[in-house]
Amino acid sequence: MTNLQVVEQEFSQVPIIDISRLVSQTSNYSYVVADQIRQACQDYGFFYIVGHGVDEQLQEQLEHLSQQFFAQDIETKLKIRMPLGGRAWRGYFPVGNELTSGRPDLKEGIYFGAELEENHPLVKASIPMHGRNLFPSNIPQFRETVLEYMESMTKLGHTLMAGIALSLGLEDSYFADRYTKDPLILFRIFNYPSNPSLSESEWGVGKHTDYGVLTILKQDNVGGLQVKSKSGWIDAPPIPNSFVCNIGDMLDRMTQGLYRSTPHRVQNLSTSNRLSFPFFFDPNFNVEVKPIEMNDIVVNDDKSDRWDKASVHEFRGTYGDYLLGKVSKVFPELRQTVLESAE
Ligand code: OGA
Ligand code: NI
Repeated sequence: MTNLQVVEQEFSQVPIIDISRLVSQTSNYSYVVADQIRQACQDYGFFYIVGHGVDEQLQEQLEHLSQQFFAQDIETKLKIRMPLGGRAWRGYFPVGNELTSGRPDLKEGIYFGAELEENHPLVKASIPMHGRNLFPSNIPQFRETVLEYMESMTKLGHTLMAGIALSLGLEDSYFADRYTKDPLILFRIFNYPSNPSLSESEWGVGKHTDYGVLTILKQDNVGGLQVKSKSGWIDAPPIPNSFVCNIGDMLDRMTQGLYRSTPHRVQNLSTSNRLSFPFFFDPNFNVEVKPIEMNDIVVNDDKSDRWDKASVHEFRGTYGDYLLGKVSKVFPELRQTVLESAE
């Protein structure tokens, strides 16, 4: 008599990957890291990285200055309010102003991007999401700290995209050559106020997927991030000196669903406020995003699982087109300003 046992794999923990060999470009060992990336992207669409080499002092400074900013009264924070950023889509928004899946999020935050002068060709051409940042003038080190952090993250983004390319059996410059040599950079600082009595339907940020190729998230030590794994919702708790990385819709599209753009959400039930620092490393605004030609790829469409039912695989056009389509959903009031020049 045979005893058939079906052992189901549990997806209960977001994997942790030491990327130091990728960072130092130790050639043969990069492939070991790439293998781990492939496994993580297929199983979870999420992974932690350690051994990334990003300056800890810089991170502490960023966290410290951000606490200082959000602790101020609302009038002071509104001095750099988002409507002043115009179509560059920069600045501060108060709690409840940003929508996810059509509902207001319980978070406030500041939007940043690559710092571009007025005479930059894309700014002159009034391309949405390009322009100058808004920095609080009463916290002098804020500007240089954010700019320095974005520079470090951009470098890390290039390194990780090389690792992701290797993980797919592609040459390490595959994404750089086609999409990310001049990436679209979005950086946000969020503050999730403490709210121990939130119900199941109230979220810091509601369930969503990210839009681009790669998100690199720094979170403080409070916790509250949840990831929808194949086994259900699991926590992605803080791990000292790590970043949480996840795959966005464009990489899902490029890999035809092999790498999943995984839903995630945040609820801060702790007694302190929670800071998070998502950095979005995305394709160039004007580049058309196409599937990677691979013979053995398994198409895995997840249309039924998306709140807006818009499958990324049906999308045709540039990354900018895709992103602009999202703006009107997350900030309806900003729609007019950001899209003015695009319509
Ligand atoms: C996001 C996001 C998670 C967090 O900004 O897309 O998922 O912890 N953020 O703030
Ligand atoms: Ni997200």
